[in-house]
Amino acid sequence: MVAGNWKMNLGLADAVRLASDVARETADDARAVTVAVCPPTIWLEAVAERVRTSGVALGAQDVHPEASGAFTGEVAPPMLREVGARYVIVGHSERRQLFGESSAFVAEKARAVLAAGMAPILCVGETLDEREGGDAEAVVLGQLAESLDGVALDDPAGLVVAYEPVWAIGTGRTATPDQAQTMHAAVRAALAERFGGGEKIEILYGGSVKPGNAAELFAQPDLDGALVGGASLDADAFAAIVAAARASL
Ligand code: PGA
Repeated sequence: MVAGNWKMNLGLADAVRLASDVARETADDARAVTVAVCPPTIWLEAVAERVRTSGVALGAQDVHPEASGAFTGEVAPPMLREVGARYVIVGHSERRQLFGESSAFVAEKARAVLAAGMAPILCVGETLDEREGGDAEAVVLGQLAESLDGVALDDPAGLVVAYEPVWAIGTGRTATPDQAQTMHAAVRAALAERFGGGEKIEILYGGSVKPGNAAELFAQPDLDGALVGGASLDADAFAAIVAAARASL
């Protein structure tokens, strides 16, 4: 799977154009690789229209755990479902760091996304300090366990996990394929222990994934794809990453 996280970028015209370009440029590979785009919430409907007849799935970048109510400014899981989202990113490091979201809150969101019939893309990742202090694996597995609190899964395809080292996001610094593989193997083992069939849950890598480093990352046995930020804003670059994912199958 390759998912593009557009973050808080693009006006309406550019978002619609990018969606159309991605749909066209990934049309062939999207038969073999799950391709998703996660535009800003306000452009979900317009992007949904552009990708509806293509193989590209729609994802949202965040959600509130309640189904409705007095939560000014928030968007509920059934609303995202209604607009056509199949995936919802939860626990992105920007949400955790800039908006103070705890893993307990992320777990509420993950449960709500599943209850609404969509798949959470649950993000976990350590900071540079944590990695340099030798705590990366403990931090990531701790975040994973807490962010999955109370989550029940009928089908391993219902959940996607993204390992995104915070020090690699938007910095141009990628984890080495070895660093990524080591963490992915640990995450896979934890998921296998937590859920029946958990070893089948797709684990994406995120953090400065580009056409130039995608193939060596995808060559790692426990990397099932990528969550792409910056490079997902360029249809050619994003399509090249999707093509690398397909070539690795
Ligand atoms: P990046 O972002 O590819 O720009 O590093 C990844 C992400 O935050 O999902």
